Amino acid sequence: MNVDVGRPLSAADLNFNPARIPLGRLAYFAREHWGVEGELTPLDGERDQNHRVKNAADGATYVLKVSAAGESEGAVDFQVAALRHLERHAPDLPVPRIIASRAGNDLEWIDAADGARHMVRLLSWIPGTLLSRGKPLELTALRNAAAFQARLAHGLRGLFHPHARHFVAWDIQRALLLEPGVQAWVADDAKTLCADFNARLQREVLPRVPALRAQVVHGDGHADNLLRAGPDTDEIVGVIDFGDMVHAPLVQDLAVTLASFARHGGMSLDNAVAQVEAWNAVLPLTDDELEILHDLVLLRIATARSLYDFRIRTVEQPPAWLTEERPSIVRALSKFLALDRVEVHERYRAACGRVGRAPAHVDVARLRERRERALGPSYRLFYDRPVHLVRGEGTWVYDADGRRYLDCYNNVASVGHCHPHVVAALARQAATLNTHTRYLHDNVVRYAERLTATMPEELRVCYLVCTGTEANDLAIRIARVVSGHEGVIVSDDSYHGNSTVVGAASTCMYPKSEQPAWIATVPPPDGYRGEHRYGTPDIGTKYAAHIDTAIARLRERNQGAAAWLCDIIFDSNGTILPPAGYLEYTARAIRAAGGLFIADEVQSGFYRTGDEMWAFRYADVVPDIVTLGKPIGDGHPIGAVITTPAIAAKFAAKFSYFNTFGGNPVSAAVGMAVLDVLEREGVQQNVIAAGKVLESGLAKLAAKHPLVADVRGKGLFWGLEIVRDHATRAPAVEEADRIMNLLREDGFLLGRTGAFNNVVKIRPPLVFTPDNARMLLEGLDRALARA
Ligand SMILES: Cc1ncc(COP(=O)(O)O)c(C=O)c1O
Repeated sequence: MNVDVGRPLSAADLNFNPARIPLGRLAYFAREHWGVEGELTPLDGERDQNHRVKNAADGATYVLKVSAAGESEGAVDFQVAALRHLERHAPDLPVPRIIASRAGNDLEWIDAADGARHMVRLLSWIPGTLLSRGKPLELTALRNAAAFQARLAHGLRGLFHPHARHFVAWDIQRALLLEPGVQAWVADDAKTLCADFNARLQREVLPRVPALRAQVVHGDGHADNLLRAGPDTDEIVGVIDFGDMVHAPLVQDLAVTLASFARHGGMSLDNAVAQVEAWNAVLPLTDDELEILHDLVLLRIATARSLYDFRIRTVEQPPAWLTEERPSIVRALSKFLALDRVEVHERYRAACGRVGRAPAHVDVARLRERRERALGPSYRLFYDRPVHLVRGEGTWVYDADGRRYLDCYNNVASVGHCHPHVVAALARQAATLNTHTRYLHDNVVRYAERLTATMPEELRVCYLVCTGTEANDLAIRIARVVSGHEGVIVSDDSYHGNSTVVGAASTCMYPKSEQPAWIATVPPPDGYRGEHRYGTPDIGTKYAAHIDTAIARLRERNQGAAAWLCDIIFDSNGTILPPAGYLEYTARAIRAAGGLFIADEVQSGFYRTGDEMWAFRYADVVPDIVTLGKPIGDGHPIGAVITTPAIAAKFAAKFSYFNTFGGNPVSAAVGMAVLDVLEREGVQQNVIAAGKVLESGLAKLAAKHPLVADVRGKGLFWGLEIVRDHATRAPAVEEADRIMNLLREDGFLLGRTGAFNNVVKIRPPLVFTPDNARMLLEGLDRALARA
């Protein structure tokens, strides 16, 4: 990340010690050095000792500024140079003028009684009232303020000063708020509020900052620095305080202005848009500036909040205004964080005359047509009105119109869409080296070790592949080599992947009439719809016994049984966790027939069900092979086959294995990053907590809505059996479809599954929170009422 933090923040950066030179002495000093004779009236000043002085001779008014002891000479010279620059290049702009002393100097030194030396400047006085005083800030004043700042920025163009990159705590390009030394003092409410934003900041925003057009900017355009002509007017007649000036992206100045008025101006997005428009009319913004503007505004407000917290907690007697103003900052931050970024961006663009995007429905229609031509008719889309997604973040995905959807379906984004740790690991390794497994590389070895360490100790050999299909394909191949048989047993309506072999083992999508002789099927252990219903004694064993028939059927076709390939959560069968005894019985039976038990954990693995990382662990069984996929790489294509050293040795005796992409250093880095997140971020606890919310909430919905006949699942994997009639159990396919579409329109993405496609499927990223779950329950309640 290219962040110029420079140095850590210290309390001294925010707490100044203005000089306290006696007024009489200063009056004498002003007369001596500037020939200005008059009474000094003290003015506010956090950093400088300021006074107003009216020259008795000609009635002109000035500001006499005394810098704090130890103030950087470079910083003061920078301000002097800026005001001189404005005087030359923007003479119409009402900013204070530097008044040279009789000796021709822009500043003079004064010695305080304690021996400290201070710089003294005389500036012209700008008449006016602070914008923060007088009538409430309305649109005209806000627009005028932004336009004024743009004029000021324009005037500062071309200014160079060696001190322009000096350390200013408020300089948001430094992103001091991310520093551990600042974060440590941030109050918990604010930490929670900004967790997602801070992650995005590091990932997406700060890396782009150094490439923006930059110059010296004022960086402090707020209502206590801008002057209005009088308390009842909106006309801006001047600006004071150049202490935060810094070399920064030009758009940073506008961001500061928007952020400041977010607090002072009863801020709404409409107001911000008006300010952007007003600024742009004076100083047109570029596309990349418009794109980053909202994030910089958020950054500025978040910085303000962090620095307030830092100051409140690190000084002995924080000024009262810090605690008084803090709530307004948090309110502005909450309000702006809640805005949809894409919408804000579009509004800013529109305000700057950028031609808006074509209406989305035209876009989508055209994209559909092109897709059908380019991809052919085999590809399907979800929903009556397909969703056109363009980005994701955590449990949220966003469409091209900027609408957000709560992702209640996509298990692949296991630790959340675009998790920064995963993205960073991917980017880092991709920028370093990507090859294959025929060279030594630490990543692939460490990853295999870490992954197998999560399994029972028998399972210690790991093949890395790219998809769940490949994993199952290899698993079947291994099982065939080891057993010397061909036959594969799967459930009716199973899904395991899409290669020629695995496609045939995916009976839910394969024409029954073309089923090869080496496939035999068993009914899924469906206690709601199957032959044995909930409550049947030994239901697990009763369903499991079907494997004996399947083995016998293979034998009748002169096929030995090579494998029992079992999706441990029977996803395509409508989400069914195997009843007690089921896996133990079937594993025993397949082994007795000389075959291997392959646990397909592509759906059920990685804590999907909460209490166990691998769902086979609910049973007293160690599979011969475990296959992994989908959630393993948080969106990156990774698959794995894990087996015992003995099985791997038998396979290796006949075949070596190579996979161009499987196990490459980038994929391994991604896989490890996912494991890091699982280990560090309480993902399992989250699954358990959110799962509990779903469990009780879904039960309540089932009691309320007759369409829901059965609720089954665990953790963050649930199926709702939608039926027309509880007595006949007739699948309500159209209603299930309607529910899915209603939820889509309401901002929730869910799926459907089961032999009849009547089971509404909830299978969100593992970071789906209890609050997300409550939100979904409310959405489901609305959809079920209307379906
Ligand atoms: C249980 C199961 N196994 C395997 C696969 C195949 O994985 P992939 O699509 O990565 O090939 C799937 C995909 O949905 C699946 O649900």
